[in-house]
Amino acid sequence: MRKQIAAGNWKMNLTFEEGKSLLAALKSANRPSDVKTILGVPGPYLKTFQDSCDDDSLCVAAQNIHHELKGAYTGETSVSMVKSIGVRYVIIGHSERREYQKESNALLKTKVDIALEHDLSPIFCCGESLEIRKSGSQNAFVSNQLKESLFHLSAEDLSKLVIAYEPIWAIGTGETASPGQAQEMHHALRSFIGETYGQEVADGISILYGGSVKPANAKEIFSQADVDGGLVGGASLKAEDFKQIIHSF
Ligand code: 13P
Repeated sequence: MRKQIAAGNWKMNLTFEEGKSLLAALKSANRPSDVKTILGVPGPYLKTFQDSCDDDSLCVAAQNIHHELKGAYTGETSVSMVKSIGVRYVIIGHSERREYQKESNALLKTKVDIALEHDLSPIFCCGESLEIRKSGSQNAFVSNQLKESLFHLSAEDLSKLVIAYEPIWAIGTGETASPGQAQEMHHALRSFIGETYGQEVADGISILYGGSVKPANAKEIFSQADVDGGLVGGASLKAEDFKQIIHSF
């Protein structure tokens, strides 16, 4: 059975104290044992927060890593730094990094590789712009993002990934893909993976939906057959909202 995952992406939000309070609220909450909660917290908080999580049902993810192992890259964080503090997940390919840092499918491929080489599981983000959605070519566009960054992997390595479909037009806009739109894309991506890797591999990969997930819509979105959870931005910053989302499976 696929893992059900409620992932938060705090992005560049919350002070250390605010983050600690949010984490404490989530830790003390009664969370369903079959839902894994992963928090994409700011880099400076990773070690403290990872150390205080049980790691099994609740753990943290880095929001990014550099594609080189080490060297003269001021301000960057390497995969071995993240690995050396016990973190096991990293968000790769978020649309904000694709846009602001101009991260291409080819560059993301190198990040996925270096993460897997160091035993970190990528939460690989993909998703189309509004323009592409309006043109009707979203399935081809998102499939190509997977193909160019992931399809060189062995089936064993691909199975270590979590995929997050995040339509750019639904991120931080309050506009959500309808449950039907999410299901359609998730199903298309799973079929696309199945064509190359076989249905068994495709059926084992958790595909999360991201884009204005909130308590009011999480249940319906997560109930779709190919939606295995969410990658949540804004609503993951509020303990009550995120707790409700964790209980929406
Ligand atoms: P919002 O939930 O704020 O729309 O953000 C989604 C996102 O980008 C998660 O990575």
